[in-house]
Amino acid sequence: MAITAIKGFNDILPGEVEKWQHIEATARRVFGLYGFDEIRVPIMEKTELFARSIGDVTDIVEKEMYSFVDKGENRVTLRPEGTAGVMRSLIENKLYVADAVSKLYYMGPMFRYERPQKGRYRQFHQIGAEITGVADPKVDAQVLTMLRHLFDELGITEPALEINSLGCQECRPAYRGLLKDFLRSRLAELCDDCRRRFDTNPLRALDCKATGCKEATAGAPAMLDHLCGQCDEHFSATKHFLDLAGTGYRLNSRMVRGLDYYTRTTFELVTGLLGSQSAVAAGGRYDGLISDLGGPSMPGIGFAMGVERLALLLEGERFRVSPDLFIVAIGGDAHPAAFRLMCELQRVGVAVEMDYEGKSLKSQMRRADKLSCRYTLIIGESELASGRAPLKEMATGSQVELPLDAAAISKTLGS
Ligand code: HAM
Repeated sequence: MAITAIKGFNDILPGEVEKWQHIEATARRVFGLYGFDEIRVPIMEKTELFARSIGDVTDIVEKEMYSFVDKGENRVTLRPEGTAGVMRSLIENKLYVADAVSKLYYMGPMFRYERPQKGRYRQFHQIGAEITGVADPKVDAQVLTMLRHLFDELGITEPALEINSLGCQECRPAYRGLLKDFLRSRLAELCDDCRRRFDTNPLRALDCKATGCKEATAGAPAMLDHLCGQCDEHFSATKHFLDLAGTGYRLNSRMVRGLDYYTRTTFELVTGLLGSQSAVAAGGRYDGLISDLGGPSMPGIGFAMGVERLALLLEGERFRVSPDLFIVAIGGDAHPAAFRLMCELQRVGVAVEMDYEGKSLKSQMRRADKLSCRYTLIIGESELASGRAPLKEMATGSQVELPLDAAAISKTLGS
């Protein structure tokens, strides 16, 4: 029996891959405009890195990590997200010494043992960006504006930007206390998960999808109404700079996020087009993370987007580039001549195809059509003798006769 891929791990096949390349190239171009450099960090890290950054009592660390003990008895984990590894690298390589402000982006596979469904996989891909070293709310607005800019460039305008503030070490504990007081009399209505994490992570009940949790938390106090003075100021300034940048948003005071490192601004780009997998991109500020991981006290903010989800939103769009030319060769002598011409044209930058196996004229034309080649050039005995051949534009049927010469052909194709 043939071996199949692991459940939740997908192939990205030709035809689809061109869409991914388009997304990646657009991200690189837009991130470049905002001064970001690429960083590539390992796919596997010490388990402790994720436990300490994402948080011991999060779903990701409790239930979803691909963790194992390697042959050297080290506890290691396939990265479930990118921020922790990038911050580990920033600290380990002291990137902040040469420049106090780092703007880094990354792309690649992440791994979470979740229940696979449309838009949710066990190996999935993120494109993420992080700025460290600036606490100013202009940076919050800049990151969100860059994210929106990237989506606009991709032609994905439907998702809405939702923002929230989760406060800081000062105001969140008091808010947690308030929320627990509110929920205590409603514990029986909460789902098993939310009841279990009532003590450790009560905020999760706010964005739980279970009907009981939704009902129980209706009317619960909102973090946004209980921010300390500084967090409140930071959030107001972030909104002001978003307005100045022309970046639209709506408030969602129930947004909690599934990772524990967040402080102050958090955000999600949410779509109504992917069923229950509504977040296409998400992130926030993490002003305590770098020092928690043993680095200097330094603020940070960033986001990651799910490439599979972006690709689903671009479904139906075609990104595959068709060959410029198909050379049709008829007769024994025409084949080597066509082959040589094809090689010369490819060297000067023309995308050319031909039939390698001496198939019939009809079959060659069928293939040219299947590949959606823009032009065909037919070479037979008489074309070889005269040194000239007809170049046909497939869309219009118009035809010109050209010398069998790479320079002349590439010039005509380019014009
Ligand atoms: P996250 O919300 O866990 O945040 O993931 C970010 C995005 O990755 C999601 O919005 C979604 O598009 C995609 N994603 C997550 N899990 C899956 C999955 N199982 N299948 C498909 N796509 C998925 C983070 O990972 C943070 N590191 C974001 C961040 C960067 N915060 C600050 N900097």
